[in-house]
Amino acid sequence: MNPFLVTSYISEEFFCNRKEETNKLKSNIKNGRNTVIYGWRRLGKTSLIKHLESKLGKGYEVLYVDLLGTKNIDEAQKIIGKEIFNFYAKKLDALPFNLQRLFSNLGLSIGFDQFSGTPEISVNFSKENNRTNSFESIGEFLSNRKNQVILVLDEFQEINHYAGGNAEALFRGFMQANPKVRFIFSGSQRNLIQSMFLERNRPFYKSCELLLIEGIKLSEYSTFIKTHFQRNEKQISQEIIDELYDWSRGQTYCIQQICNKLYDRNKKPDKPSLYNVQHDIVKQEAPIFSTIINTLSNTQRNVLEAIAKEEPLLNQNAQSFLNKHKLGAASSVNTALKKLIASELVIKTEKGYMVHDVIFSQWLKKLI
Ligand SMILES: Nc1ncnc2c1ncn2[C@@H]1O[C@H](COP(=O)(O)OP(=O)(O)O)[C@@H](O)[C@H]1O
Ligand SMILES: [Mg+2]
Repeated sequence: MNPFLVTSYISEEFFCNRKEETNKLKSNIKNGRNTVIYGWRRLGKTSLIKHLESKLGKGYEVLYVDLLGTKNIDEAQKIIGKEIFNFYAKKLDALPFNLQRLFSNLGLSIGFDQFSGTPEISVNFSKENNRTNSFESIGEFLSNRKNQVILVLDEFQEINHYAGGNAEALFRGFMQANPKVRFIFSGSQRNLIQSMFLERNRPFYKSCELLLIEGIKLSEYSTFIKTHFQRNEKQISQEIIDELYDWSRGQTYCIQQICNKLYDRNKKPDKPSLYNVQHDIVKQEAPIFSTIINTLSNTQRNVLEAIAKEEPLLNQNAQSFLNKHKLGAASSVNTALKKLIASELVIKTEKGYMVHDVIFSQWLKKLI
């Protein structure tokens, strides 16, 4: 088996470090604190949550809900209900009354598989549910569990786009009404999540501990990579690791992709084999990048390309930058940049502006 996973979490053996983050989460859970996990995309937030789940063991029930793609509070409540169903009800022969009431409040219909007789749920997103009752009955059910329940709401920044506008206050009310349930919110839009929890006039202000996820340190990753190569009588040099880490800008997903392919193809990878792998990874995602590029205006596209070539870009208004990339007036560059940031193609970091997706950036660098 290839030890460099590129899809989902399997076990600690294939998971590099994150000891401090895991301990922090455990301590928050044990001491009644709710947590917000935030950081740029593909650094390992979701995997960290799965890792935590495997480390908690008995006495804990971790409900994992991914809010990506949900459009309103009804949908969010329904998928929380669906997770409750999958976690608890599937194993039961008959649904207890409190669960029946919960699912009916959520507008979820339960049927039974014709052949096996096991219960099945169908989620009807067009059917409205009773919002207030739904949060009340979800809360009542989870608060009455004997084990410690941890409700994970991944991609929580989605609630900022919900129709209706008061989603933040509703979720905050739900959290406050259920002090026995531990909440973990996780999100990839760092600025959005940060402002939700750090601005004085927002409902979630100071309600949770913030846990920033950054790239795994080179020294830690090096040990992890070398160990897995050596275990199967393969060998990788520090020089190659340094170079692939740098090319990946330390992004976990990109490092895993490269190592997965290097491990598969070579006993002792050298520079040409690294370049081949990098080339293949960029090629593999090229069709997606072309599609994205085609949705942009000319200025947006030029600015994006220029940032990829310069990143981290400190000053988008510098005459030398505008001239070098033939970008024209600073005002139109600023408008385009705002748009690129809003759609998360570009991020603003302490070091400067960067293209959010590392592989996309590598693809853009090569465009003439
Ligand atoms: N600590 C880790 N060690 C090894 N691989 C990891 C680690 N964290 C994440 N990954 C891998 O990196 C990729 C991206 O991780 P993911 O958790 O989906 O990121 P995020 O939720 O921050 O977008 C996944 O393929 C996952 O398997
Ligand atoms: Mg994730």
